[in-house]
Formats: sequence, C-alpha cells, structure tokens
Amino acid sequence: MSTTTTALVTGANKGIGYEIAAGLGALGWRVGVGARDQGRRDAAVEKLRAAGVDAFGVPLDVTDDASVAAAAALLEERVGRLDVLVNNAGVTGGAQQEPTRVDLETMRTAVETNVIGVVRVMDAMLPLLRRSASPRIVNMSSSVGSLTRQSEGEVGPLSIAYSPSKSMLNAVTIQYAKALRDTNILINAGCPGFTATDLNAFQGIRTPEQGAAIAIHLATLPDDGPTGGFFEDAGVVPW
Ligand SMILES: NC(=O)c1ccc[n+]([C@@H]2O[C@H](COP(=O)([O-])OP(=O)(O)OC[C@H]3O[C@@H](n4cnc5c(N)ncnc54)[C@H](OP(=O)(O)O)[C@@H]3O)[C@@H](O)[C@H]2O)c1
Repeated sequence: MSTTTTALVTGANKGIGYEIAAGLGALGWRVGVGARDQGRRDAAVEKLRAAGVDAFGVPLDVTDDASVAAAAALLEERVGRLDVLVNNAGVTGGAQQEPTRVDLETMRTAVETNVIGVVRVMDAMLPLLRRSASPRIVNMSSSVGSLTRQSEGEVGPLSIAYSPSKSMLNAVTIQYAKALRDTNILINAGCPGFTATDLNAFQGIRTPEQGAAIAIHLATLPDDGPTGGFFEDAGVVPW
C-alpha cells in the first residue's frame, strides 16, 4: 500500500474546495478531486496536475447513495485506504432564505447536501479512514451555523435553510467525534470566512485560497490535535 498521504475533497472542482485540493497537493499529498460533473471534474484535475499536484478525479454526488458507494470503491481499488476526508461540498439550498416564506424544497436541499450528504460520505469512507495511521475528517461548516453568533446577530442576513443546516452539521461533527473518541480519527468543523465564490455570487471578501486555509490546517493536525471542535483562522468559533 502506498505511503503517500491521500486526501479526498468533496466539491473540489471550484471555489474553496479547489483551493483545498491545491493546498493539500502542494504538501506532496495525492488528492482525490470529488466532483459530480464530469466536465468540471476533468478540468479541475487537469488544472491541478498542471500545477504539479498528484490529482485524480472521483465522481461524487454527495446526495446519491450509489455515487458515494462508487467513490469509496474507487478509493479502495486505487489506494486501499484514505488518510484525510474534507467534506467541503455545500449549497445554500436557494436564494430565498427568509423565515415564514421559505420554500420547503430549499430547506430540504440544504439539509440533504450539507448534513445528510456529509453523513453519507463519512459512513462510506470510514472503513478506508480506519486503515490510516493519522486519519482526519474536516467538515466545512460556517460561522453562520454558530447558534451563539446567530443569536447575538453578529453574522449574516436571515438564512432559514443554510444557517440551520450548518448548525446541524456542527452537531453531527460533535456526535461523530464522540463516537470515534477511542480511535485515532480527529474530526473537526471549520469556517472559511466570508469568501468570494459562486455560493454568494462572489460577494465574499476573502479569496478562495484564504478560505481554504482552515481546512488545510485541520487536515494536517498533529496526532495530539483537537477533535470535536469548531475553528476559524482566528481560533475557536463558539457553538
Ligand atoms: N463562500 C463562503 O463565504 C463560505 C462561508 C462559510 C462556509 N462556506 C462553505 O464552504 C464550502 C465550499 O463553498 P464555496 O464557497 O467554495 O462554494 P461553491 O464555489 O459554490 O462550491 C461548492 C462546491 O460544492 C459542490 N457541490 C454542491 N452540491 C454537491 C453535491 N450534491 N455533490 C457533490 N458536490 C456538490 C459544487 O459542485 P458543482 O460545481 O457541481 O455545483 C462545488 O464544487 C461549502 O460547504 C460552504 O457552505 C463557504
């Protein structure tokens, strides 16, 4: 089995996910570029390879059982294990996020991708992660999912689907950290900060490369690093 550290980044074809793949690749890691669209996936892999990254494509729609199972099978066959999983793929669910008026489909889309999708991918990848010497899971959350910051009105506009989906992802992260407490797997949630990507019509003030930094930090934690936490570049984010 290869000794090269292997990471899988979901939603790695653009935005913050692409820069996470680039950053992990720059460490000399082999990076699986998880992406649901073949054209966008191939283009990202090609661009990463041109930059010297040992990248390979992983067809992956986090909302689809068969797709996620096939991604795990691909990693099993190609590498035989997984060292780092970055659950980066995420959606707002829809543009209209006002409480009392939201289309329930917007809620469903946000939760299906940002929460259930992450659980689906983690459960499929855990057998592979358990074979790693230092497995890490990074869940890309958001400080708009912080109940403390939501209630103190520190962040963002009203967001009835997206923010609660990230609050639930945070709780899921805590639950997995507790379940995996007796293993060597470290799992944490990260917030990239308000980053200019398609997700917010490029209104963010950080670059995708800056947004990727927290995930790269949490992906490269030492064995005695934290687990079950929520972090941004400046440190701990309150739940
Ligand atoms: N941008 C910010 O300010 C900000 C702030 C806090 C947290 N975040 C979080 O950071 C993460 C990355 O966001 P971003 O800003 O880089 O957004 P983005 O540019 O819109 O990228 C989102 C990525 O997720 C992928 N994706 C969406 N649904 C998917 C699915 N069902 N299966 C697989 N891939 C899927 C997209 O693929 P397609 O190209 O196929 O759509 C795309 O690659 C998200 O979890 C987001 O919530 C972002």
